[in-house]
Amino acid sequence: MTTKHYACKTADVMRNAPKIVSVSNLSIGIFNLNDGYHALLNICPHKGAALCEGPVCGTTRQTSDREFVYDRAGELVRCAWHGWEFDIRSGEFLVDPTVKARRFDVSVEGDDLYLHI
Ligand code: FES
Repeated sequence: MTTKHYACKTADVMRNAPKIVSVSNLSIGIFNLNDGYHALLNICPHKGAALCEGPVCGTTRQTSDREFVYDRAGELVRCAWHGWEFDIRSGEFLVDPTVKARRFDVSVEGDDLYLHI
């Protein structure tokens, strides 16, 4: 059972620049991706850094023995402390998806964003 909490205005959440809000005594980062808004707890599951204050980025993916490409631009957040990369939509750590940042559902009503906690 979750409860809906007002978070901020949609205009407050820029692309590639998450909005950090404090709701229900939690620090939460809200991200604006091409498929809508997503939210992660602003605590890294590794050692507790402010995860959502790290850069929004992509990652390097190997395509052959000698080629790497930069992929998934704007879909990941990289923790500033040790560089762990997390999928913003699922909260999963790329190297080990069993390690997850806590995520929250987000809904939009008019110009208002709500978090479901
Ligand atoms: S605290 Fe986030 S990667 Fe270590």
